[in-house]
Order: sequence, then C-alpha cells, then structure tokens
Amino acid sequence: MAERAHVGRRPQPDRDVPVKPTSARLAFRDDVIVEEGSAAAETAEGRRTLVVSRGPSRFTLRGTRPEVARVLVRMTHEPVDTEAAVRDAPACARQMSAVLSRLGGLLAHHLRAGGEEAARIESSAGAPLTAAPVDAHAPVRMSPFSLCRSVDGHPVVESPLSTFRAVLTGAGTRRLVAELFTGGTAARFAEDTAMSPGDVLALVSHLAGAALVDVGDVEGFAVDRDPVLAQWDFHDLLFHARSRSGRYDGDYGAVFAHRATIEPCPAVRTPPQGSRTPLPRPPLGAVLAKDVPLTVAVEGRRSVRGRGLTPLSLAELGEFLYRTARVRTVTEALPEQGMPYPATSRPYPSGGAAYDLELYLTVNRVAGLAPGMYHYDPVGHALVLVNDEPEQRQLLLDWARRATGADQTADVHVMVTSRFQRLSWKYRGMAYAATLKHVGVLYQTMYLVATAMGLAPCALGGGDSDLTATALGLDYTRESAVGEFLLSSLPAPGDLPPAGHDGWERVNGHSWYRQARLHLEAGR
Ligand SMILES: Cc1cc2nc3c(=O)[nH]c(=O)nc-3n(C[C@H](O)[C@H](O)[C@H](O)COP(=O)(O)O)c2cc1C
Repeated sequence: MAERAHVGRRPQPDRDVPVKPTSARLAFRDDVIVEEGSAAAETAEGRRTLVVSRGPSRFTLRGTRPEVARVLVRMTHEPVDTEAAVRDAPACARQMSAVLSRLGGLLAHHLRAGGEEAARIESSAGAPLTAAPVDAHAPVRMSPFSLCRSVDGHPVVESPLSTFRAVLTGAGTRRLVAELFTGGTAARFAEDTAMSPGDVLALVSHLAGAALVDVGDVEGFAVDRDPVLAQWDFHDLLFHARSRSGRYDGDYGAVFAHRATIEPCPAVRTPPQGSRTPLPRPPLGAVLAKDVPLTVAVEGRRSVRGRGLTPLSLAELGEFLYRTARVRTVTEALPEQGMPYPATSRPYPSGGAAYDLELYLTVNRVAGLAPGMYHYDPVGHALVLVNDEPEQRQLLLDWARRATGADQTADVHVMVTSRFQRLSWKYRGMAYAATLKHVGVLYQTMYLVATAMGLAPCALGGGDSDLTATALGLDYTRESAVGEFLLSSLPAPGDLPPAGHDGWERVNGHSWYRQARLHLEAGR
C-alpha cells in the first residue's frame, strides 16, 4: 500500500542537492511610461537621457548607455531577463543594476513555471524587490497578514506589511498559494503541485522577499514571536496601511472617482417619517452670559459615568444639540470652488464640509420627551421618532451601560451614524478614516459643550452597528453607527463618581484641572 501511494509522485528533491530557483524577468508596471529626454542631453558615445514616469513620479536617467536604454524600452511591453541582456558588458550590467534599484517601485517581477506565466509581483511603493534566500526544506507559510482577493479576474495576494502585490496568473501558482495558506516546505509543495522544485522555490523566494510569505526556523515563525505585530489586528493594520499614503499605490485623496457616474448624496439627510418634536433653541446672549471660559471647559472636562437625580430637560437637550450639531448654513454644489457637491456648515469641523455624520438619540429619561429612538433633524432642529419599541431601546441602553461599567442607565444614548457615501464619493483610500476622525472632533465638541452646560458626558469606544441599523431601519453599507456618546444630568458634587485619573501622580499644572472643576462646581 505504502509503495502504491507513491506511484506517480516525482522523486523528492535530495536534501543535499540545493535547488536553484528559476530567476524572474522584469517589466515595467502597465502604468509606466518611458520617454526619450531632450536631444541636447545626448552625448557623443550615444548615451541618452530617458524619462521614466508613473503618474506624478518622474525619474530622469541621464547618460543612459544605449544597451541599457534598449532594455528599459523593451521592459515597457515585455518582461526581460535583465541580467542576461547585459551579461556580456560589465559596465552596462553595473548601470542596469543601479537603474533598476532606482526604479524598483515601478517594476513588475514576472515569474514563469513550466514554460508559462506563473505570477507577477508588482511594487506598490518605492522599494525594489529582492528574492529572499529560502531553503527548499525550510518551513514556509503565507503571512497571517496576507490576504487574497479578486482584482480584474485574477487572485491577488496583498499584505499591509508588504510594498508588493502578487498577481497569480498561473493555475499552478494558485494551487501553490492555496497550499501556502496551510504551510509546508517548498520541497513538499513541489511534490503536491505539478511544478518543478526550481519554479516553486522561485515563487516562494519572491513571495518571501515581498513579505507576503513567512520563512520559519527551528523556533517557528518570527512574526508569531513579534510583540509588536501580536498587538495588531489584521484588519486594523490593513486599514492603517490603506488609509494612509505611502506603501499603497491606489487612488488616494479627493479624486472624485464617481463624479461622472453617481450623483452625490444630499448634504442633509431627508428626515425620516415620524412624529416630530421641535427642540428649544437657546438664545446666543443667554449662552454667552452663563458660559464658562474655554479653558475652564477644556481643563475641567471629564467623563462622567452616572446621572443626577433629576432627568435631563428638553431645553438642555435642545441646547446641547443646537450647540454641537445643528446645520448653520447650506449651499448647493460650488464646482468652481472645487466643491462639486452640496454642503453645510455645523459647529464642528468636517473634511470637505461633507458632514457625513447623523445623530440618533435613544432617549431613556428626558423630562418632556417620551422614551424612544429619535433622529435629530439638524436643519429643523427637531427630533423625529423612528422607533418606540421598548425592547430594542433597552438592548442599546444596556449595551452602553455595560461599556461604562456604570450601575445606572444614561439619560440619552447618542448614536452617531455616517452616511458613508458623502465622503467616498469624493475621497479614495481615506474616506472611512476621515469618518472616524469626524467622530473624534464631534466627541470633543460634545464633551466641551456638555461640560460648559453642567451635564454628564461620556464617549463610548464601540457599539453594535447591526443592532443599531436594525433598530433605526438603516441600510448597513449606506449608513450605520460609527460612534456612541452618553449624556445625562450631572450628579450632585457629593455623588459624582471619582474621575478615572483621581490619585494619579501630578506632573504638569494639575491645579488647572482642580481650579477648573471648582469653577464649574461654583457655577451650578
Ligand atoms: C474614543 C473614546 C472612547 C471611549 N470609550 C469609553 C468606553 O467605552 N467606556 C467608558 O466608560 N469610557 C470611554 N471613554 C472615556 C475614557 O475612558 C476617558 O476619556 C478617559 O479615561 C480619560 O478620562 P476623562 O475623560 O475623565 O478625562 C472613551 C473616550 C474616548 C475619547
């Protein structure tokens, strides 16, 4: 039986005979242009000036030897064995190597297996790719930070730890990569797939050089012992790498990718159907007359996980929402000012004045307002009832109470949602990151206004967006919760739970905090 199991298997590579990986051929990425520089720059030996560009990146290669120039031009339409192309001319080989390391970020490494195209490893940043030395019997596996997704009909392997992506063009490579997600050795993969040991080793070495594959040692894999990587969730690191410029070469910033095909979302959400409760509007004079100085609000601000004996009043809720989130002005699209979409102005800042955030309130205890879930209409300064079903309300309130570790349920649970397409219509790569930044600036605005008003604020770090979407009747990918904030009446000074930092070692101007607190308490 054991012998029959081996029928048809190719002999395992001998451990003593090193397997030589087949080398990759190089081409420029599809979006690279190679042009002749000015004729004036040419020299008597026929050296030329070439300009290699990709988007706004331009490299001027002065004094390029004719043999090297010919190879570079060829690389715009086919993969070239660059080493072989200049092997007979050492001076050209040196220049070729220098040029390729300078243009590393524009290259695609083409690997072949069994005479066919197997994979293309493209650079997404400036670094050139160097294949890692991999022993055919060393443990290898796909990095736990790598992912495989379909792009233009091809599986593509990417990782936030890598400045490369591997486009799996060959069927054998796809089988090999599937095996790599489980792990093994290059020698074993050569047995299990129909690829030669040299081809497998070339693919594994290049994927390892690209940091898409990990190579282990007797102690396992270095990434598993790395205390920094251990503290990164896969999705967090991917989000970080993709929402910042640098190692990713996709569209980034205000590129208006959908301008020609999709209408921008309205600047203000159409208020839902439901009974409306107009909110009191605070007169500016009265607010200015009673407000504490900015420094008192900033320095005396603290999170309060608890509530006073008396419920929050409708006037307080109205003033809080008016001062933090109302719409002050609206405008139609202003394309001549670089704003081809309608916009608004509100008290807190928002990227591109896009104001994607909406507020919904789960009201638990507000004098003059029935418990329920409401949408805040920031133009009409009114609340619109969207759900008065007690069970879902209680689920959300309990979730929030547990998140603060408090015994009592807050008076109001503010749910912050984002109408995501307000930002993603304009921004690529950074839209969701901008949403979360908006949540941050809104939180601080809410903290400061609540502090100035003598209310109890507490931000929350997470929430159940599915539960919220169900309770509010939202379409998860169109609009869902991205933040939560609790607001209550302030407990009496004697009942105020200690601040988290009470008793910590004092470093810089702790007296500012104490005096600001005294100022706030004196004003109650
Ligand atoms: C983004 C963010 C998330 C937070 N999440 C929670 C939370 O889930 N539960 C909680 O009790 N406090 C939460 N807080 C409040 C912090 O614990 C608090 O700001 C921190 O301990 C500093 O204390 P201070 O606000 O009293 O100065 C959060 C604050 C922020 C800004």
